[in-house]
Amino acid sequence: LQEDKIKVTFVMPDGRSLEADGKVGDTLLDVVVNNDLDIDGYGACEGTVTCSTCHVVLKQEDYDKLPDDACDEERDMLDLAYGLTDTSRLGCQITLTKDLDGLVVKVPAGTYDARS
Ligand code: FES
Repeated sequence: LQEDKIKVTFVMPDGRSLEADGKVGDTLLDVVVNNDLDIDGYGACEGTVTCSTCHVVLKQEDYDKLPDDACDEERDMLDLAYGLTDTSRLGCQITLTKDLDGLVVKVPAGTYDARS
């Protein structure tokens, strides 16, 4: 359904914006994979919360809209993420809701793969 489409923009470290469509229930990682977005190394662990390469930075207002808080596993991974901020989350743990249509997230300049 058209109305279930959620628009997401990833702002890259070099200033490029990558726009993509997701749907309600997709994670940000799904959006990156399904749209074949060119984000280097993103989602290396395929959403198993062991890498932190899917780290994104949200605007405070969007961060506050997320339905769930980071779980312990996510928090542990975020602690290892490069360029951690107060509004950082792991993209594989962000599930799109209708409220999040138009979401803009920043992709940090570096990634850290906790598995290496
Ligand atoms: Fe590895 Fe999200 S894809 S923690």
